[in-house]
Amino acid sequence: MAQADIAVIGMAVMGRNLAMNIAEKGFKVAVYNRSSARTDEALAEAGDLAGNMIPCHSIEELVAALKPPRALLLMVKAGAAVDETIAQLKPHLAKGDIIIDAGNANYRDSVAHDQALSAEGFEFLGVGVSGGEEGARHGPSIMVGGSKVAWERVQPVLTAIAARYQGESCCAYMGPAGAGHFVKTLHNGIEYADMQMIAEAYGLMRAGLGMTPSAIADVFEGWTKGPLASYLTEITVQALRTTDPATGKPLVDIILDSAGQKGTGRWSAIEALDLGVPASAIAAAVEARGLSGMRSLRQAVNGALGDAERAAIGTATPEIIAEIEKTLLTGKILAYAQGFDVLAAGSKQFGWNLPLAEIAKIWRAGCIIRSRMLDSMSRAYSATPAPESLILDPDFAGELKASLPAARKILGLAVANGHPVPALTSALNYLQQLRASRATVDLVQAQRDIFGAHGFERVDQPGAHHGPWHTGA
Ligand code: ATR
Repeated sequence: MAQADIAVIGMAVMGRNLAMNIAEKGFKVAVYNRSSARTDEALAEAGDLAGNMIPCHSIEELVAALKPPRALLLMVKAGAAVDETIAQLKPHLAKGDIIIDAGNANYRDSVAHDQALSAEGFEFLGVGVSGGEEGARHGPSIMVGGSKVAWERVQPVLTAIAARYQGESCCAYMGPAGAGHFVKTLHNGIEYADMQMIAEAYGLMRAGLGMTPSAIADVFEGWTKGPLASYLTEITVQALRTTDPATGKPLVDIILDSAGQKGTGRWSAIEALDLGVPASAIAAAVEARGLSGMRSLRQAVNGALGDAERAAIGTATPEIIAEIEKTLLTGKILAYAQGFDVLAAGSKQFGWNLPLAEIAKIWRAGCIIRSRMLDSMSRAYSATPAPESLILDPDFAGELKASLPAARKILGLAVANGHPVPALTSALNYLQQLRASRATVDLVQAQRDIFGAHGFERVDQPGAHHGPWHTGA
């Protein structure tokens, strides 16, 4: 009998947790996995919630279990698995049925799915879900893009399962297909930058101030009560307090210094470049992960040039630690400003009208970058007119002004003493460039005119101009 409100396809941990979350909110959810054993495991894990779950072992069974118009949420491996699953479902579906891709899709794939499916009379939603396994089970942040009709149909379910921030659901409609996954991609890009900058601040305290992981954990714990209050700050405390049971050493020292990545950070940097918007802190974070994986090159350079002479930048006084906090705050504001600028540029380019204030709001809970600062960002973007950049919001401008002297001092010391701080310095350089009343690209323009007769504009006259260029010695 058709009684399920929605289907979840893909019973790996994310899909399973989302299905349990849906069941817990009182909806009937039909569940299916390509290999049946996982469906049965999911039901066994669900305990009491299994009463609201309908296990299905074939696509026919799944489709028959759903109330029309059917809503089918895919949580399968991004890419080919989504294409294959859609192809398998289509012959069994009716016009008006809704396919939801909730995996980590590239937004371009969502646009393509929407075009193909809507041409055949189906509805499509591309939905970004952030918050990892815990979020999926107890409340993620949900970014929806695609058909409005489909959104209205599934809104009650998605709104109910999302995280809440002071009672407000962290699920919102972002715009047409592609918009949901584009926003999720930038969320992850910002996440990369945030994590990298935290790691750089840790590195400065560890190698620059000679502090132990546990002493640094205490510092980060203090920061969870200030402007850097965030989930990432909290888990940094947790990471630095953990000891390896096998060796008794800090676990962070046992972890191989080679970071993984799945692609969304890189996609953010690529989109930023394509849109012509600087996102240097995000790019630096992606590159730092990539570089960390070049182990043989790192070893060869280390052998050829010797270890970086990482010297002390001071002693661990409360003053210098407060300056490092301000440095991280500066970097964080600037990385978020860059991320939001990419969103604004994408919105303009694709005609999406992305709701920037709403985006900051639904990132306040559930997702990995949830933080106190996002509340201020949602306020900043609620202004009419919205600021052209977060940097121009009076409160953020004030915070930057107050923190900048410390950031300059600390990053100057970091560079002078051999500490790698790529994301923090990228962020600072971005601001230094933006602030400069005169950029040095005047010289670049001169070079372009000399070698390619590209011409230049003058500050004192309209029109295009050329040389004359000095010749001879
Ligand atoms: P995991 O490592 O947890 O297995 P994964 O390989 O990314 O994660 O797969 C995630 C989900 O996508 C699983 O439900 C998987 O189904 P199986 O359990 O049968 O492997 C599903 N999946 C992967 N490739 C698929 C495909 N080509 N068609 C349908 N589902 C697929």
